[in-house]
Amino acid sequence: MKTIHNIFLAGALLAACAGASAQQVNVICSVQADWCNMIATVYAKTTGVKINLALKGSGEALAQLIAEKENPKTDVWFGGTGDPHLQAAEQGLTLEYKSPSLAQLYPWAQQQAQQSGFKTVGIYSGPLGFGYNTELLAKKKLAAPKAWADLLKPEYKGDIQVANPASSGTAYTMIATLVQLMGEDKAFEYLKGLHRNVGQYTRSGTGPIKAVARGETAVSISFVHDAPQERMQGFPVETTTPSEGTGAEIGSMSIIKGARNLEQAKKFYEWALSPGAQAFGAASKQYQLPSNKATAVDPNVPDFKKIKMIDYDYKKYGASAERRRLIARWEKDVNSLPR
Ligand code: F6P
Repeated sequence: MKTIHNIFLAGALLAACAGASAQQVNVICSVQADWCNMIATVYAKTTGVKINLALKGSGEALAQLIAEKENPKTDVWFGGTGDPHLQAAEQGLTLEYKSPSLAQLYPWAQQQAQQSGFKTVGIYSGPLGFGYNTELLAKKKLAAPKAWADLLKPEYKGDIQVANPASSGTAYTMIATLVQLMGEDKAFEYLKGLHRNVGQYTRSGTGPIKAVARGETAVSISFVHDAPQERMQGFPVETTTPSEGTGAEIGSMSIIKGARNLEQAKKFYEWALSPGAQAFGAASKQYQLPSNKATAVDPNVPDFKKIKMIDYDYKKYGASAERRRLIARWEKDVNSLPR
């Protein structure tokens, strides 16, 4: 009798273990790898739930979600600029979910949720600016850029890097910011001028600041929160924000419509909005402003009060037609030109 009882117990244990190992959530992660890996490790350790990570830039993540629309393989899209998250919401790729934690978030993060019909939410924010390598600029006898207008100066030719807006949310934020600052036609004239000075368009938005850090280019157009990590590694990197004004991203998170692991997706989503989870940003040396008001703000997080910010129209520039049209215009009018 005892033996039968033991076999039954062992079987029950095995079944429980099998159940636990089946607990997983598939996450596209559009922040830097250190942050993605840290949350995956901590989450697995504390909950027993495995996170299968796919690291992708914002534009690439959206392209993947469009491609797998009929048969989604992703449960949650974590991070990346907010515009493509809004586009995903509009295209019915993401699920309406009203988190009970919404009231704990800053108004900009709640607004991102409201504007999408609660199909996405803000998890962090950060301003766009310029990164530069102080040693390389000194060697080349170049001044640090202070304004958008400065980047058109011939002396920067070949020495500016920015990402490609088709793959990178950072670069799309730049285009949308310039259009809002200058008006569309003037912004595209500006982008054509900038194109003459760009040495390389990178796939990822953080590529250019890393190139600045390594001394491969003097100047980058980057989110300023991506610089402190490079500085901490000893690279001579400084940042500034343009005097004419600049835009900011609302880094977002969405649950995918048709998610295979929906209950786990919701649990991860709730965890990711908590102050404890958001602290893993700064813990992995990522210095965006966290969206939960109770998350401690690291001193390396850019101080928005000191920056001239535009009133970025997230709804307009996150609309599918607008984002597609502006990127197509950039391909046709700007990227096709010789440099
Ligand atoms: O992870 C750093 C970061 O700058 C985020 O703040 C931002 O959402 C993301 O990269 C954008 O990456 P990409 O421009 O490659 O889409």
